[in-house]
Amino acid sequence: MNLFKLFSGFIFAFLAISAVTVAQIPLYTFPIDDGTKSYYVTGGNGVKIFVDEKGDPSKTTIIFSSGFLTSRTSWDPQWFDPELYENFHLVRYDFRGMGNSDKPTTNSHSIDLNTVPSTTYMGNTDANPYSLDLKSADLFALINKLSSEYDFKEKKIVLVGWSTGTPVSLNFMKNYPDIKIDGLVSVAGFVNNTGRELNEKVVPYFLNIVNPQDNFGEVISGLDGIYRSTSFKPLSDELHAFFLGNSVTAPYEYRVSAVVPYSLTEFYSTLNIPTLHIIGEQDIITDMEHSLYFASLGQNVETIIYKDVGHCILWENIKEFNKDLINFVNKI
Ligand SMILES: *[C@@H]1O[C@H](CO)[C@@H](O)[C@H](O)[C@H]1NC(C)=O
Repeated sequence: MNLFKLFSGFIFAFLAISAVTVAQIPLYTFPIDDGTKSYYVTGGNGVKIFVDEKGDPSKTTIIFSSGFLTSRTSWDPQWFDPELYENFHLVRYDFRGMGNSDKPTTNSHSIDLNTVPSTTYMGNTDANPYSLDLKSADLFALINKLSSEYDFKEKKIVLVGWSTGTPVSLNFMKNYPDIKIDGLVSVAGFVNNTGRELNEKVVPYFLNIVNPQDNFGEVISGLDGIYRSTSFKPLSDELHAFFLGNSVTAPYEYRVSAVVPYSLTEFYSTLNIPTLHIIGEQDIITDMEHSLYFASLGQNVETIIYKDVGHCILWENIKEFNKDLINFVNKI
């Protein structure tokens, strides 16, 4: 059989169909030219971090750090809410390994779960290219760039973290105590990943995404399972595909970084800035027990629990979430 002929016919048919499909079914309805300013900053060890900025720079700056395996676009429901961008200065960015940011890898697939992967990037060798410290250095680079443009003596910064975006925000405050942060919002956030067991429903999915062979099929089925467990009511097919599509760009080194232990419990107990904990009662990724434990450590804490909401709070309960976020930032 002439395989080439078969394939070229197949490719042609695929292109023709996809062109029609893209033209007819827009997946995304938000305006393209919405005033977002996008650029790169150079983060830890030379890694380029992609940043979006929007809103009124004279107002309080809200910096959104997304969750594990998600890009900055997971904040779309907040980004396109005029109540937020007309009253605040919004900043979101892609973690290293996600979206448009650089994705350092080991460039080898001799992967062994017992050894933390290391990368050489811009002449620097990192034991874990996706460590909390490097992610915090990226956030520092971003805030450094903002402070060269805006006077943070005159205005405030609030950090908002979803899921693992919270330990990144906390670790940033721990590593860079000279930068004044005025408030913190934990959205289904973690304070440590030690001494707790994952919900048994999601354990196989997380094992799939860190399988030592980095088997494509297993990784995809793990990611698929994770995004089917992230909300209480199922995500629409479109939204599921959106999250899945964002997550597949993460290299193995990013995925496996989730198993590196960390604890910010001690640091968080010393923090006295206003902190809002937003919790989904049905969350099986950051379970209620962990969320309440985290909140109990704080000194200046407000806690809001949403019923019938899972881990994907920012999409599952957009109206209330945005309203509660605005109220909190306005009080600071
Ligand atoms: C981490 O969190 C859990 C609750 O999820 C808690 O039981 C445990 O003691 C914490 N570990 C550390 C080291 O603080």
